[in-house]
Amino acid sequence: MTATGPQIETAPPTLRQLNTAVLIAAGAAAAISIAAVLPAEYGVDPTGIGRVLGLTPMGERRVAQANGGKAPAGPVAGDAIATTPDGGRRVRIVLGPYAGREVKAAMKAGAELTYRWSTDGAPVEFEFHGEPDVPRTPGDYSSYAKGMKASAQGRFKAGFAGHHGWYWKNPTATPVVVTAIVKGAVESFAPIYAKGAAVAAPATDSVAGAAGSVETTRYATDLPLKTVMRAVFGHAAQEIWKRQGYVSDATGVHSLFPKDAEEWTLAENDALSLAEMTNILLLPGRRVDEQAWIDSVAGVRKSALTLAALTRKQDKDAYMEAGLHLNDACNACHARYAPGVE
Ligand code: HEC
Repeated sequence: MTATGPQIETAPPTLRQLNTAVLIAAGAAAAISIAAVLPAEYGVDPTGIGRVLGLTPMGERRVAQANGGKAPAGPVAGDAIATTPDGGRRVRIVLGPYAGREVKAAMKAGAELTYRWSTDGAPVEFEFHGEPDVPRTPGDYSSYAKGMKASAQGRFKAGFAGHHGWYWKNPTATPVVVTAIVKGAVESFAPIYAKGAAVAAPATDSVAGAAGSVETTRYATDLPLKTVMRAVFGHAAQEIWKRQGYVSDATGVHSLFPKDAEEWTLAENDALSLAEMTNILLLPGRRVDEQAWIDSVAGVRKSALTLAALTRKQDKDAYMEAGLHLNDACNACHARYAPGVE
């Protein structure tokens, strides 16, 4: 903390208030002559940058997946393949939060199929495209259609022998199920897995549809991330922030910091709880398989552990500054994965 005077707040800082406190402080300082609550260096709003960071051109991602970069090593919990009663081939895949995946049909030149795909609700980014068996150049592919939809259908004739199909990307934090059915002269129709991975066939409908996999059975991730954020992480952070700073009322200025060893221990417990809870964000089915996600979870954990260590020193200024860093750590993830959240 670089401010010299007492830090005065009219209420414990919330996530949103910490971000806007610099603006508020200007008005508050004029009105009741208090020191600025937060130094200016904490007032950065990274939202715009996050938007930019979050955008990777679709073509790049598709190529990354074609090269095995993002494709899962094997079936994801909930994937299924089946034959329809009228002889079509059906593939159902689960797109984890922000995940992109491909399903392709092997076809001869001139072969035709009809297709139909839909999600279980949310629109997804898609690119319908094909890769020739004999590429003319490295990464050779043809794009037939792309955009953002929850369903599509049509007829397709392969212009060359190769693999033709879809890349879908889930733009949300909630898993999306995509079901695709093709009928016609296809040699195979299947999800694409990372090259070099031992590819086990996805479960048939009867198995995967009924019980889900061991992974989803073992970890319950059915609470929406939005709820987990508000009720678990928002709450945990408030428990920490409410013990930081000062409040002023008619009777004077009051410290919010822990007052005795027992209260410092409670504060330590809150910080350690938050540190441990960050693991929730890494559960299969909830985590985003990107380094930026993993890194920002680690950032929150590190901040929380620093807070815990400072409760043992009972250093109020450093403890409060670490509280501000915690806010930055939360926002590092929000900037990229939830640009609307402050
Ligand atoms: C690894 C990523 C990540 C980290 C770390 C993270 N969040 Fe979030 N948070 C999200 C995402 C994604 C959303 C948007 C969820 C949605 O709307 O579906 C969100 C939303 C929120 C919301 C809004 C919930 C609502 O009801 O709209 C709050 C509050 C929140 N987070 C608090 C926190 C706090 C406090 C921390 C740090 C202690 C934190 N988050 C750390 C990813 C993260």
